[in-house]
Amino acid sequence: MDEKNNKMEKIVSLCKRRGFVFQGSEIYGGLAGIFDYGPLGVELRNNIKQYFWQKFIIEREDVYGIGAAILMPEKVWEASGHTELFTDPLVECKICHERVRADQPEAIVEHEKIHKNEKKKVEWTEATTFNLLVGSKLGASEKTATQVYLRGEITQGAHVNFKNILDSMRPKIPFGIGQIGKAFRNEITPRDFLFRQREFEQMELQYYIKPNEVEGKKQYEYWKQFAFDWYLGLGFKKENLRFRQHTLDERAHYAKDAWDIEYNTPFGGWKEAWGIHHRADWDLKRHSEYSKIDMSYYDEGTKEKFIPWDIECSGGVDRAFLFVLLEAYREDELGKEKRVYLKLSPKMAPVKIAVFPLLKNKLALVEKAREVYKNLKKEFGAVEFDDNGNIGKRYRRQDEIGTPFCITIDFDTLEKKEGVTVRNRDTGKQERISEKDLISYLKEKFT
Ligand code: GAP
Repeated sequence: MDEKNNKMEKIVSLCKRRGFVFQGSEIYGGLAGIFDYGPLGVELRNNIKQYFWQKFIIEREDVYGIGAAILMPEKVWEASGHTELFTDPLVECKICHERVRADQPEAIVEHEKIHKNEKKKVEWTEATTFNLLVGSKLGASEKTATQVYLRGEITQGAHVNFKNILDSMRPKIPFGIGQIGKAFRNEITPRDFLFRQREFEQMELQYYIKPNEVEGKKQYEYWKQFAFDWYLGLGFKKENLRFRQHTLDERAHYAKDAWDIEYNTPFGGWKEAWGIHHRADWDLKRHSEYSKIDMSYYDEGTKEKFIPWDIECSGGVDRAFLFVLLEAYREDELGKEKRVYLKLSPKMAPVKIAVFPLLKNKLALVEKAREVYKNLKKEFGAVEFDDNGNIGKRYRRQDEIGTPFCITIDFDTLEKKEGVTVRNRDTGKQERISEKDLISYLKEKFT
């Protein structure tokens, strides 16, 4: 295994070992491209989502948050163009009939290698198109059941509520609708752990603007940079992120222009993290046609009526999660001991602080540690108490899950009233902080 894939393997194993991510329904053999998040994973995901909600919705006067449904009728997807155009090219191996995406050379090569080892030469069928929407039926009888789709992008939840937001919130253009939620795609070759899944979560903003080229260009550049800065804020080095414009044949059917923010992954080089799409009036115009509901906006100032253009920021929660872990993963030597640690930014860390009594069997130490733990938990929420194993082991465990600070209560805390030790995850250095200053000291570290 080469160095690069090795890092991905190490992340997969750490995720399972330490309760970040498990294969979905693992005891029944699992489902390809489906994952469950464990106690630490769910916290890290929440931190990513909270950060999105804070920056894209809460801190803005011009963006409205919504929570739209996952199931939507067929008509929505006909209008959005997905039933017809949301497809991937697919080829089938004539030896084993496995299907692979024709536009993913790495998947083709990987498959050919399998048969090469069996001394067979692969022949592929002609490419056909394969629709990625995941369908279902709602209703008690076959006859009356309605065809529905689990949304292939959360976007349509915003567009179908465009009129509702106009009528209930009376927004002034430009304004946005933001949301976070699950999306589903019948990916032909789910791969690379959380990178390409069949069930995943998206964070999106649809930003509606006046339909003209100058405004379009200005807003598009603004949101590209806004999304990039947001992504950097997850804790990335600038050199590991870049912009890339989609070529014409890569662009989704709705996009007038499309740029990705890409992350330099160890498993496959630059890969899409986030998309910024100029959707113009594609969606609202089509929903006007298909629903027969007028989706235009009336501008009181200029007395103009028009269908707005939409600038979209669309990111994957799971990809951000995976990339944050890949970026944070470190191996080094502290003293003479090798260790693994996650250099997560304090706001992303699933556990913020861990509190230890130096010894498990000294009641006074345990009681004091519990008292400190309770006080910190009230203030910081994600605080862990651990008295299991020797202190070195406890530090290693917290390093591996990226806990920025470990606090130890020792005999000097009790007898000399010298405060507690606060250990920094990245340097391994310890400082003594008086009990009365502890909360303000830590608060400063988390701002
Ligand atoms: N509404 C636009 C849209 O859905 P997209 O580029 O298809 O655009 C946006 O998806 C983001 O969703 C991607 O940048 C990626 O982060 C995430 N994403 C897309 N497909 C995914 C998959 N199969 N597994 C995990 N994340 C995915």
